[in-house]
Amino acid sequence: MQSTEVKDVKKAMDFAESLLNKLNGGAICLMISIGHRVGLFDCMGDMEAATAEEIADKAGLNRRYVREWLDAMTVGGICIYDATTKKYDLPAEHAVHLTRKNATGNLAVLAQFIGMLGSVEDGIVDCFKNGGGVGYEAYARFHEIMAEESGQTVVPVLVEKVLPLAPGLHERLESGITAVDIGCGRGRALRRMASAYPKSKFVGFDLCDDAIAHAKEMTEAEGLTNIEFKKQDVAALDLSEEFDLITAFDSIHDQAKPDVVLKNIHRALKKDGVFLMQDIDTSKDVENNMTHPVAPMVYTISCMHCMTVSLAQGGAGLGAAWGTETAQRMLGEAGFDKLDLHKLEHDPLNCFFVARR
Ligand SMILES: C[S@@+](CC[C@H](N)C(=O)[O-])C[C@H]1O[C@@H](n2cnc3c(N)ncnc32)[C@H](O)[C@@H]1O
Repeated sequence: MQSTEVKDVKKAMDFAESLLNKLNGGAICLMISIGHRVGLFDCMGDMEAATAEEIADKAGLNRRYVREWLDAMTVGGICIYDATTKKYDLPAEHAVHLTRKNATGNLAVLAQFIGMLGSVEDGIVDCFKNGGGVGYEAYARFHEIMAEESGQTVVPVLVEKVLPLAPGLHERLESGITAVDIGCGRGRALRRMASAYPKSKFVGFDLCDDAIAHAKEMTEAEGLTNIEFKKQDVAALDLSEEFDLITAFDSIHDQAKPDVVLKNIHRALKKDGVFLMQDIDTSKDVENNMTHPVAPMVYTISCMHCMTVSLAQGGAGLGAAWGTETAQRMLGEAGFDKLDLHKLEHDPLNCFFVARR
């Protein structure tokens, strides 16, 4: 395995072992994603140890595929297999991180990003050679996965923990104000706010037709009347002193024109209006991200999604690891000089900026 030029053979062998672990991890992530999508983790989380056939039948899935999946989960250290009884078990300590019962920390949701990014690999390879980017339309499941991700990091804690980061905001929302969510995607956060604060009016803007169509469908199904969704490029938003609250959940760093968007947000806020921005909690400098718990994922998702969708529009391509330093500088340049930075315990990936006009 080692080349003749390798001086430290042990170092080379240790590295090969660590690489093999990464290869196995990548492969298992694809299977975790499938297990999440077809409901196998949720099914096993509610069962005692059982045979492959029993698990497949309970989940209503094909027995052959489920057995192969269970064996992958077993050698991957996710399930425990008893060769005597031929039963597979998902221990409670594992189930807690892989089932929908955990509303804020189901890591199987994140595993879906691996398969999604793999689906655009050819396009990204082409960009490495020729520049440019891969556009939103290339990602068949992006908005679905993103809504699930923010459905864990933002939505369950939005009213209780996120909005109170801005003192007085909860009371203003209760009495009735006008709010807009920038890059709202499928609109789960906005729908949560609209149902919590019936006297306030909410608008969601997003670039993508499919996300807006889904948001409208869900709003109708939920019977919410104080909310509307519009297809709108927020770089072209030309409104002055219109909103009391503007939110942006994970939607600034992948903008084509983030500087223009932040200035548009500042202008669109009423005096003393609040801008609440959730974004990725990294440093702009890679050397400061070495101990970040999910840095490899951040840079990978950045290269294969956030950065490339921006570059596809001829944009800045800031990338997900633009860093809190860059975010603070750009918010300042947009006119936000009153700024607080917060971190919530359940979420190692993101932080919240609270700015006032
Ligand atoms: C990372 S996703 C976040 C979606 C949503 N806020 C959430 O947390 O689930 C970024 C969103 O910003 C939208 N977006 C990007 N550029 C935009 C622009 N110029 N105008 C409006 N929406 C934009 C994308 O379509 C995408 O839905």
